[in-house]
Amino acid sequence: MTSERRVNCMQASVPQFTNSPTMIVMVGLPARGKTYISKKLTRYLNWIGVPTKVFNVGQYRREAVQTYKSYEFFMPNNEDAMKIRKACAIAALQDVNIYLTHEQGQVAVFDATNTTRDRRELIINFSKENGYKVFFVESICDDPDIIEANILQVKLTSPDYKDCDKEKVVEDFLKRIECYKINYTPLHDEYDRNLSYIKIFNVGSRYLVNHVLDHIQSRIVYYLMNIHVTPRSIYLCRHGESELNLLGRIGGDSGLSERGKKFASALGLFMRDQAIQDLKVWTSHMKRTIQTAEALGVPYEQWKALNEIDAGVCEDMTYEEIQENYPLEFALRDQDKYRYRYPKGESYEDLVQRLEPVIMELERQENVLVICHQAVMRCLLAYFLDKSAEELPYLKCSLHTVLKLTPVAYGCKVESFFLNIEAVNTHRDKPENVEVTRNPEEALDTVPAHI
Ligand SMILES: *[C@@H]1O[C@H](CO)[C@@H](O)[C@H](O)[C@H]1NC(C)=O
Ligand SMILES: *[C@@H]1O[C@H](CO)[C@@H](O)[C@H](O)[C@H]1NC(C)=O
Ligand SMILES: *[C@@H]1O[C@H](CO)[C@@H](O)[C@H](O)[C@H]1NC(C)=O
Repeated sequence: MTSERRVNCMQASVPQFTNSPTMIVMVGLPARGKTYISKKLTRYLNWIGVPTKVFNVGQYRREAVQTYKSYEFFMPNNEDAMKIRKACAIAALQDVNIYLTHEQGQVAVFDATNTTRDRRELIINFSKENGYKVFFVESICDDPDIIEANILQVKLTSPDYKDCDKEKVVEDFLKRIECYKINYTPLHDEYDRNLSYIKIFNVGSRYLVNHVLDHIQSRIVYYLMNIHVTPRSIYLCRHGESELNLLGRIGGDSGLSERGKKFASALGLFMRDQAIQDLKVWTSHMKRTIQTAEALGVPYEQWKALNEIDAGVCEDMTYEEIQENYPLEFALRDQDKYRYRYPKGESYEDLVQRLEPVIMELERQENVLVICHQAVMRCLLAYFLDKSAEELPYLKCSLHTVLKLTPVAYGCKVESFFLNIEAVNTHRDKPENVEVTRNPEEALDTVPAHI
């Protein structure tokens, strides 16, 4: 069956369910931040545990047409090019189909530009046929400064413009935008009133939300309404070394060691050096983060959601004691550290759910210093650096080291500052070849009675 026929054949439509996969379809002229939104939204959805992937039609086009010559490729009267572009859109849709129907994908973000009514209908037909829901995200921007800033920020580094000078890129790109304008039809209040969509005006100065169908769409809307593009930095660090860190014990609620106190003072000096106006400082409800923040001499706010992972029956134990008392639990944790839940405690997966409001508020804020804990910092870092659930529990977050995260183009720049105060090492690498299974009968009955 050819792709054309598959996409157009309407007989076999698959019914939609509440949890049917969703296609998010970007709409808007070039340089409206569609790729930025696609990537960021995908990172967020993956982090909260919704398998999501971006399908960038421009990338298919670049693969089909190895060298880009100029904006003329995008002229509506360039028929050969039109054929190539349509074929690319269809190839991308086929890959969406593989991902959502055969690879357990839940959301596919279709990042393309030529979203005329005709093209939208093609996508809607395709989704109906496969039982997917469609949610459009349209980015509308008429502020020339925002558009030029976008071109300079992301298009200069595009493979289309390798070895081109700045003025030429902007000039060619503005012409490319003009080509698209000829056929571009924004989502229409009346004509498209049955579609589900959000329109974002001038990077979030206004929104229009229409016909939200389900929980995942409302979460997407909520997220898109909270993000902003104002330059800022987020600083992440752990509390200073604690009394229990010195003893090699996990969890608990101890105060700072002598070196931990030194780190707190050093952190104060470091942040003063950064000279940031209106810096927000957040801690958990635990002594060691509060004592660290106290040394800064600035107002701070406590979040219970930032408390360290709850190690349940293993709180206050050393890794050796855990290994001795709960050998099976210990091995199970090494086998799937992300999903492993301490008996009567939490898993990293639980922690990510608990931290979601913190991430949402971090998106809303500008400069923030978060003084937290090892497992919490790993979860936050994984969100900003787009790390998988497998990598997350092994991210290195050493004591007495501040990470400065600054959003750039489509990602995040990370700078690491060790503040020169020694501390114990609390990091354990993933051991090799762990393979155990829990016998359902024994499960937690193996927990010794004295704990
Ligand atoms: C979408 O399906 C309808 C029939 O329901 C058909 O008339 C229309 O031509 C299709 N559109 C596209 C672009 O394939
Ligand atoms: C976009 O695609 C449609 C067909 O789907 C075509 O008619 C139109 O000319 C294209 N627009 C541009 C700007 O190439
Ligand atoms: C929207 O849906 C309603 C009810 O299903 C239908 O009567 C109407 O014609 C649709 N409107 C458009 C513009 O497609």
